[in-house]
Amino acid sequence: MIYRFDKHEPVHLIQITDCHVHNERERLLSGVNTYDSLAQVIDGINGCTKLADMALVTGDLTHEGDERAYTLLLEQLNRLPVPFFWLPGNHDHTGPMGSTANHERLHTKQIILQDWQILLLDSHVEDEVAGLVSQSELTWLATALLEHPEKHAAIFVHHPLLPVGCDWLDPQRIANAEQLLTLFDNTPQLRFVCNGHVHQDTTETRLHYQLLSTPSTCIQFKKNSADYAEDDLPPGYRRFTLHADGRFDTEIIRVGELVRVVGAPRGYSSDYD
Ligand SMILES: [Fe+2]
Ligand SMILES: [Fe+2]
Repeated sequence: MIYRFDKHEPVHLIQITDCHVHNERERLLSGVNTYDSLAQVIDGINGCTKLADMALVTGDLTHEGDERAYTLLLEQLNRLPVPFFWLPGNHDHTGPMGSTANHERLHTKQIILQDWQILLLDSHVEDEVAGLVSQSELTWLATALLEHPEKHAAIFVHHPLLPVGCDWLDPQRIANAEQLLTLFDNTPQLRFVCNGHVHQDTTETRLHYQLLSTPSTCIQFKKNSADYAEDDLPPGYRRFTLHADGRFDTEIIRVGELVRVVGAPRGYSSDYD
């Protein structure tokens, strides 16, 4: 589905990612209450005086991917001061995700602005940790980019295309990343691709576009770690300002402190599923 947003740029985006909201309100992830840490981030957004037009929630919305978890997630997302759109991550299940949020806006994959288009790419494979963009999804993406050569393009996706330097995470990147990178290298109007999944912020420049990733609203993964490791950085989110001429500004915003329940088991099961 297509969402048309007629405001003149600059347009202000918020990206929220990897909320991992559990299907029980009190359940913890490595000692962190993911529902509360998402609430902390949304409180931060609501208390921020910076402008916002819409929010994008880029996968691992919930941890278990069942209806109860999406209901709890929406309790928080519905507090956002702007319309929000989402895409799935490896923890999500599109059945419950779609039926719980019975709202047309949440099935949107393409957002058309005056001078930009934003594309929400699905890289999830049911019950798999690693990412893959299906051939039908790739065709849809290439067609959308071809249809609007005059608009600057931004792509949001859950899994990364490039390694981030964490040996345990890097095999989970999009399996057919080379196919996508070839498309992107040949799409001159592309300005950036931004992902979640890696629970850390990264920035890479490649030819005419940037590849970015964004911290989680709950636990953070330690940069450049060979094995699974967490950082104690606070929950965070990302802001973008899209300008009519194709320039964009972006920043990471951290909100408060990471709150861990004392004595709760640490670690994320070794399979990071
Ligand atoms: Fe995640
Ligand atoms: Fe993920």
